[in-house]
Amino acid sequence: MPDYLSRTLAAYEQSVHTYESATKGMIPDVELDTFMSLLPDPAGPVLDAGCAFGRDTSLLASRGLGVTGIDLSEPFLARARELHPGLDFRGMDVCALDFADASFAGVWCQATLLHLKDEHVRAALGEFHRVLRPGGALFVSFKEGQGEEEIVESFSADAVRFFRYQTADRVRGMLEAAGFADPDVRVVNELERYGPGHRDLNWLSAYARSAPRFGAGAPAARPASRATRRQACGVPAHLHRRDLSSGPSSSAHRTDAHSSGCRTPAALRSPSLRSHRQLGEGLQPAPLRYHPRTPREGGPHP
Ligand SMILES: C[S@@+](CC[C@H](N)C(=O)[O-])C[C@H]1O[C@@H](n2cnc3c(N)ncnc32)[C@H](O)[C@@H]1O
Repeated sequence: MPDYLSRTLAAYEQSVHTYESATKGMIPDVELDTFMSLLPDPAGPVLDAGCAFGRDTSLLASRGLGVTGIDLSEPFLARARELHPGLDFRGMDVCALDFADASFAGVWCQATLLHLKDEHVRAALGEFHRVLRPGGALFVSFKEGQGEEEIVESFSADAVRFFRYQTADRVRGMLEAAGFADPDVRVVNELERYGPGHRDLNWLSAYARSAPRFGAGAPAARPASRATRRQACGVPAHLHRRDLSSGPSSSAHRTDAHSSGCRTPAALRSPSLRSHRQLGEGLQPAPLRYHPRTPREGGPHP
């Protein structure tokens, strides 16, 4: 597992209950409605990729869907099983899914790929496409912005988490390259959606359908082969170094065009977001920024 992901998982390990209390009320009902409307089968099954303590897994199940929740964090999985003993939770890396091709009618992936570097986001999207039936529905969300950084927040016991910010154009491009058709990327302001106590920051909610794998409509760039897929987020570090060395350069990340769909101009966003340190792909050594929450930003969040 790459170091940046180990550090993020360690941060969650120290904050399982804090994260749960802060986010259990953030019910993504609008996103769930849209996702449900795209499913080719109202019974599923669906995958909750990066399920944490199982909030969305249980919401999906309560809508009548067969659902499996996966996560790399054992403490989160233990909590999910405790809260929802009837549901199926498994330890798994989103970049190396242990499911057969075309196993699911839908993949739901809320606030998880934002913790991965682009090459691993692409690997995960390739896996989502592989395990989806043709025409299967995908929901995936990111934080809007540019670049990447590691930040320290008080809620995670001062441990560091890695974030990769995305623009709508980049998300659309990665979805299409992974084999998804007609991606629809929407900007959702967290404060507007969840009200006072939440942050004035924009999320990108992306919906897409899995395009056919072969023949007309197949994507120009094929999803990774199984051999490539296994160079996943959770594989030993010596494999990852090879993977990372072929990744995109930091300059490519920095020259992204900002999403025209953003409703909140950069100058109006929260000071903490504006002051975030934008790092290059190699995470050049730099002092970590301590990023305590202010009352305006609300409590701990994804
Ligand atoms: C911000 S939380 C979001 C959790 C949940 N989806 C939600 O909306 O509350 C990110 C989750 O992604 C998980 N995660 C990060 N990288 C992962 C990976 N490569 N494979 C599986 N889970 C991963 C973390 O353990 C954590 O539970």
